[in-house]
Amino acid sequence: MAAPVDVKIFDVKNTKLFINNTFSDSSSGKTFPTINPSNEKVIAQIAEGDKADVDKAVIAAKNAFADGGKWSKTSASRRGKYLWKVSELIMKYADELAYLETIDCGKPIAETKGIEIPLTADIFAYYAGAATKIEGETIPVSGNFFNYTLREPLGVLGLIIPWNFPLITAARKIAPAIAAGNTVVVKPSEFTPLSTLKLAEIFAEAGLPEGVFNVVTGYGKTAGAALVAHPDVDGIAFTGSTTTGQEIMKTAALTMKRLSLELGGKSPNIVFADSDIDTTVKMAAAAIFYNKGEVCTAGSRLLVEEKIHDEFLEKLAARAAKMVPGDPLNPETKLGPLASEVQLKKIQHYVDAGKSEGAKLLAGGNRIGHEGYYFQPTVFGEVNNSMKIASEEIFGPVLSTLKFKDFDDAVRIANETYYGLAAGIWTRDIKKAHTLARKIKAGTVWINTYNMYDAAMPYGGYKMSGFTRECGMESIYEFYTQVKSVWVDLN
Ligand code: NAI
Ligand code: MG
Repeated sequence: MAAPVDVKIFDVKNTKLFINNTFSDSSSGKTFPTINPSNEKVIAQIAEGDKADVDKAVIAAKNAFADGGKWSKTSASRRGKYLWKVSELIMKYADELAYLETIDCGKPIAETKGIEIPLTADIFAYYAGAATKIEGETIPVSGNFFNYTLREPLGVLGLIIPWNFPLITAARKIAPAIAAGNTVVVKPSEFTPLSTLKLAEIFAEAGLPEGVFNVVTGYGKTAGAALVAHPDVDGIAFTGSTTTGQEIMKTAALTMKRLSLELGGKSPNIVFADSDIDTTVKMAAAAIFYNKGEVCTAGSRLLVEEKIHDEFLEKLAARAAKMVPGDPLNPETKLGPLASEVQLKKIQHYVDAGKSEGAKLLAGGNRIGHEGYYFQPTVFGEVNNSMKIASEEIFGPVLSTLKFKDFDDAVRIANETYYGLAAGIWTRDIKKAHTLARKIKAGTVWINTYNMYDAAMPYGGYKMSGFTRECGMESIYEFYTQVKSVWVDLN
């Protein structure tokens, strides 16, 4: 947890679409409200972009990408310098970005200021360095030929962003896209558009040519869907629900778009009897309750070895009961309100389902107060994988705990899910830890830690948690560039 920070208050300045380095109203003139989940008040009215605005933004991005255009003549080194400048400006405006992210999403200011804004700046800094390191290969083909590969950008990319980590999930897409020479149209979540619009201002200040970076705010079913269907969009990178990911795949099939999908999870966090119990209790609570459980990799299924099960759960429930959410703008707050009313209703629905399916409520289970979407950290015991609360992504502060007998039992229970985003392993036995890491079907495995991220580390899902990896050079190779083979006759 980051140290307490000073809290500064800012006006919300940017509420419009950003196309060709200009902020403008939507074609229809319509707006939608964005809400502060800590008091349910409207923060600002945001331009509601739809298909007509997506068309404009895609034309801007396409013109910027076009052969002979400014962007196509921009060297990799120059692209890297732009990204470095963006990284610096993110830290220059860190207080404002943290404030916007906090009021729009209900995240504690200590986390936005102390963790998420610096991580966003890091992602841009990493890809600033990556821009000049995107290399092809020479291939030893048969016969008297010289063969080499070129790694080229795709063109115009549509980047569709969720509301749980608006800036970080946007940065993971925008930075590699720009590093590789693509142009982008970003569609932030209708619940949390503010920080992406500030980022637009930062891109303009960094001096990027017109049309390279565009933002269309609006709803998923209109603006988002139009981006996915657009014939001049060459790829879509999306983070969000598995259901929306499936819809995107269907639509994208018609224009054969390349996809990067980072979807839901139901990640097992596996605690063996030989782990340090007090530390692990603390970390297991953080694994599910960080960002109120609105984390794709949340450790939402806690598997505890039989021998320590009862003691562990007693300590965990006591810890959860002590975690009281509060005003996210208070620098001491560690837990904020849920992000929206939709989420509040969804969480209440899952708590009811848990109770009626026979799980045992050990902590929490209720909304707090009547203003703001505050919800108690909730722990269920005696859960099994056939219950809804164990199989479906809840995306809130609700932990389902399951008991296991031994190593093989843990593997079976952990992998019995359609998802495969992440997993945690807690043990002092390194052989057991590494053997289990290989057996888990998930894109990230944490051993004796949880929810660690780095711009350099590939991140993404197995199974229905999606495909392709974000972060690291992996994302440049898997998604943000395409390979061209060149043959030269030497005969
Ligand atoms: P969502 O997946 O519908 O929304 C994510 C983004 O996709 C938003 O920008 C939205 O406007 C856009 N979108 C929605 N429908 C679209 C469509 N047909 N075409 C193109 N873009 C579209 O998620 P939502 O409704 O915000 O949250 C619902 C549930 O999804 C959550 O309760 C949670 O379980 C899950 N979720 C998971 C996330 C993750 O990181 N794994 C992130 C956000 C939500
Ligand atoms: Mg909001």
